[in-house]
Amino acid sequence: MKPLLLAVSLATTLAQAAGPVQLDIRADRPGPVIARQVYGQFAEHLGAGIYGGLWVGPDAEIPNVRGWRSDVVGALKALKVPVLRWPGGCFADEYHWRDGIGPRAQRPPRVNTSWGGVIEPNAVGTHEFMDLAEQLGAEVYINANLGSGTVQEMAQWLEYLTADGDTALARERRANGRDQPWKVPYWGIGNESWGCGGHMKPGYYADLYKQWASFAKAPRGNRPKLVASGGQELELHWTETLSAEVKDRMAAITHHQYSLPTRDWQKKGAAVGFPEAEWIATLAVPQTIDGYLAKHREILDRNDPGKKVAIYFDEWGSWYDPEPGTDPGFLVQRNTLRDAVLAALHFHVFHRHAERVKMANIAQMVNVLQAMIVTDKARMLLTPTYHAFAMHLPFMDATSLPVQLSGVPDYTLGRYSIPALSASAAKSAGGKLILSLTNTNPQVGLPLQIAVGGKAVRTVTGQLLTAAAMDAENRFDAPDRVKPRPFKAEAKNGLLTLTVPAKSVLVLELQP
Ligand code: AHR
Repeated sequence: MKPLLLAVSLATTLAQAAGPVQLDIRADRPGPVIARQVYGQFAEHLGAGIYGGLWVGPDAEIPNVRGWRSDVVGALKALKVPVLRWPGGCFADEYHWRDGIGPRAQRPPRVNTSWGGVIEPNAVGTHEFMDLAEQLGAEVYINANLGSGTVQEMAQWLEYLTADGDTALARERRANGRDQPWKVPYWGIGNESWGCGGHMKPGYYADLYKQWASFAKAPRGNRPKLVASGGQELELHWTETLSAEVKDRMAAITHHQYSLPTRDWQKKGAAVGFPEAEWIATLAVPQTIDGYLAKHREILDRNDPGKKVAIYFDEWGSWYDPEPGTDPGFLVQRNTLRDAVLAALHFHVFHRHAERVKMANIAQMVNVLQAMIVTDKARMLLTPTYHAFAMHLPFMDATSLPVQLSGVPDYTLGRYSIPALSASAAKSAGGKLILSLTNTNPQVGLPLQIAVGGKAVRTVTGQLLTAAAMDAENRFDAPDRVKPRPFKAEAKNGLLTLTVPAKSVLVLELQP
């Protein structure tokens, strides 16, 4: 134990000897608004992502509102979920909406061939999902089935949701209990059409997209933004093809990128008990995304100079080996401090590209992959990722501000080298100066001096998320092990130097 402590304190001394990192926020150069939708969520019919985790049915003993569990919905409401994507993912391209309307007892059970081959009871369908979104106060982003559905099926689903006249589909919706049309702001046409959504090539998909988009009709004032499936893992070709060929009715192109510690889908790496090499490897992914987004933006700026087409990063997050003893098709994994730091690094990237990135949806909201919430029958647990989202609430609809950093050391291990400090600043919708920081180095705290337009700040207050171990997690018997704590620092003799603790996320409000 002792030699390790000595090594750590020596490293800390060395880092401090290099002098504090200097951070200057250019409040005089406001950038684009950070769309609150980049704090969006995704809930798929996958494992306990819906059934059990969110939906228990109206007759369950677990307290619920019309079938949706009250504890989980209550915790999610505190995150002000801006938008919720449903029903998939890969499941979207095997989902037939008519299976999920009408009396629940009469709905057809199907096999969920995407996830675990379990029976999909269709107890959660259109009406139930829209009720969940209303309970959360979230916009809906519905992903239509291009892979195994038909244009007619898609067109009728959209009409069922939005028709305001006296059409047969509107009557059917009313007979099923919903009088007024729902608002449907976002409508996805296929999911991962390069893969589970049909293994298509971009040119073929672009043609199909144009056809499907032509029939995705809704009344004026309630027309969704239409969203095209983008390419595999950030590759550029789909963005090039779609932005060149689809000129109308494409509000956004999606991207998915998961963070696998090993980059190997056969053996991704453990969620807990991982070596430091897998800590840095995981945290290096957002830097790659940052670089790729710059390249996608170059393509879009060329093909869409009017900036009509956004990027929706509608699946992101960590993906580890499944929790031992669980069905691998249910994508159950544990969530640690590493996931919270990873989330904050993604937020910084999305803020940096706020001009084009107008939505992002972490995968997934409850019990699946990098979840906010884990449930076990009647019990519920908030993960470190939940807390990272909660800490960043002030960034929703904030105006991004450029940050100049000097003296940031690299954090290097093996073949990975990333900046030890990542920062993102903004002016919140309420007019406050806010700053998010992550220290990616798990060993060394970083001394930091903050200025706004060259003028040192006097006081910072906020919340700090860190823990003793890289894989610290919340458990049902210790639910608050990783939880934000209040943080405050004040200038002494006119100078404020604070330390961003090792392996931490820090969100601050600044008083210049
Ligand atoms: O989020 C899990 C799966 O990952 C989604 O269903 C799919 O779109 C992606 O490959």
